[in-house]
Amino acid sequence: MGKDVIIALDFDSREKTLAFLDRFQEEKPFVKVGMELFYAEGPDIVRQIRARGHRIFLDLKLHDIPNTVKKAMAALSALDVDIINLHAAGTKAMMSAALEGLTRPDGTRPLLIAVTQLTSTDQERMEQELLIHAPIDEVVLHYARNARDAGLDGVVCSPLEAGSIHARCGADFLTVTPGVRFADGETGDQKRVTTPERARELGSDYIVVGRPITQADDPVAAYRRCVAAFVG
Ligand code: C5P
Repeated sequence: MGKDVIIALDFDSREKTLAFLDRFQEEKPFVKVGMELFYAEGPDIVRQIRARGHRIFLDLKLHDIPNTVKKAMAALSALDVDIINLHAAGTKAMMSAALEGLTRPDGTRPLLIAVTQLTSTDQERMEQELLIHAPIDEVVLHYARNARDAGLDGVVCSPLEAGSIHARCGADFLTVTPGVRFADGETGDQKRVTTPERARELGSDYIVVGRPITQADDPVAAYRRCVAAFVG
């Protein structure tokens, strides 16, 4: 898989999602289905998007005891998605179990990536509420290493962390990075943002872009602008 732009389909209904995708007549963007859409519409929405020919990142961020995650991943493996994720905080045992559950009888499986620390968690919250006292950059790198040791394919992280994660975990270890904004756009609730051009320079493999595309007056033009800047 090469560098690409993944559109976050943060919609609350099938109708809105399919109406949005209908606007794309010439290309089939890689899309992300998250908790909001999945819990609203169930697995059928994933099948419908897949049937239209889109590649899919299923962003459900699983985190439970290893046996439960293994069985949940086995159920999700039937959905024919390209990337799926979980929380690295669930431990290496949970990540290994997830990988086992996700692997189909014929040996194929979606790519499995881990969330390190959510970009909504900062140093202060981590120390005061989670009692984790290491610097957040070290925590992110350590979780990425755990994910790699468990056999996972990469992590979700900030574009600002992509370079150090590649240096520590290998150039092939995927970095999938949200928090991307056009230089002339709104940042909304995202704190540490970078442009598609900068994400490319920093070594992100995939950028996840939601509102700058979904809320644009012309989403297809915004998507093309993103692809031109990130993929070239
Ligand atoms: O609209 P925006 O471009 O901010 O959307 C970013 C997407 O990436 C959202 O679906 C959000 O849930 C997701 N995400 C994130 N930060 C993380 C993990 C996921 O923004 N650390």
